[in-house]
Amino acid sequence: MDILLNNPFINLTEIFNPIAMQLFIVAMVALVIIGTVVDIIHKKNVQYFFNNAKKAKLSATKELGSGERIAVIAKTVVHDIATTSELGAGKRRVAHVLGMYGTIIFWISSAVLVFCYNSSTSGDSSTWSFLWHLGAIMTCLGGFWFWLFLRVDVSAEAHPWYRIIKADLFVLALLACSTFGLAWSFTQSFGLVGLSYLFLVLFIASNLILFGGVYWSKFAHMFYKPGAAIQKNLAEADGSRDNLPPPADAPEQFGLGIKREQPKHY
Ligand code: HEM
Repeated sequence: MDILLNNPFINLTEIFNPIAMQLFIVAMVALVIIGTVVDIIHKKNVQYFFNNAKKAKLSATKELGSGERIAVIAKTVVHDIATTSELGAGKRRVAHVLGMYGTIIFWISSAVLVFCYNSSTSGDSSTWSFLWHLGAIMTCLGGFWFWLFLRVDVSAEAHPWYRIIKADLFVLALLACSTFGLAWSFTQSFGLVGLSYLFLVLFIASNLILFGGVYWSKFAHMFYKPGAAIQKNLAEADGSRDNLPPPADAPEQFGLGIKREQPKHY
C-alpha cells in the first residue's frame, strides 16, 4: 500500500528546481492549446460546426429561453458527457469511462503534487499521491482493455493487437504516460535508482509525445465530442434537428439486422 502513497515528484527536486517542473506542466497545457487551435484551423471543423448550427437554427420550431438552454446543457454534461453515453451500454463504455476518469484524476493530481507538494515542508501529500497512482492504474485498465481487445481493428477486423497505425498515437501515448509514470514511482519505492531514472526519461518523452502530438492524434476529441453532444441536444430541443427530417410516425422497427452478432468470424 505504501508504494501507492509515494510522491514521485518530491525526489525530483534534488535534480530539478520545482519551478522547472511547473513550467513543464504550463508548457504541456500550451502545447494542447496550440495543437487544438492548429487542428481547428486546418480541419475547419469548428467553422463548419457553427455554420451548420446557424443554418439549423433557421428551421427551429421553438425559441429556447436561457433557462431551457441551461437545462439542456446541464443534462448533456451529466448524462451524455460524464458517462460517454454515445458508446451505449457495454464494455466499450466501461473501458472509456475508466480511462477518461483515470486520466482526469492523474492530470489533476500531477498538477497538485507539482504545484503544492514540492518540498519536504509542504505537508502530507499521501492523499494526492494515492490519487495519482489510482488515476494511472485506472487509465491503464481502461486503455489496455480498449487497445488490446476492443479496438475495432482487433475486435472486428481481425488485425493482431500489435499492429500499430497512426490512429493509435493518442491511446498509446496516454498508456505510455501512465505505465512509465507508475514504473518510475514503483522503482523509486523499491530503491532501484538507476532504473527509476530510465523510467523518468520515458515518462517525460511520452508526455512530450502525448501533448506535442495533439495535432496528429485523437486528443482533441475530448473537446469536440462534448461540443457536438451539446449542439445535438439543443437542436433536438428547439425542433431544428440539425435539418434532419422528423422521426416517422411509426414504431422504430429496424429489422433483425440491428441485433445481429458483431462481425468476428475469421
Ligand atoms: C480526459 C478525457 C478523455 C480521455 C482521456 C479519452 C480517451 C479516449 C481514448 C484513449 C479513446 C480511444 C481512441 C482510439 O480510437 O484510439 C477514446 C475514444 C472515444 N472517446 Fe474519449 N476520452 C476523453 C473524453 C471523451 C469525451 C468527453 C467523450 C464524449 C463526450 C469521448 C468520446 C469518445 C468516443 C465516442 C470514442 C470512440 C470509442 C470507440 O471507438 O470505442 N471521449 N477516448
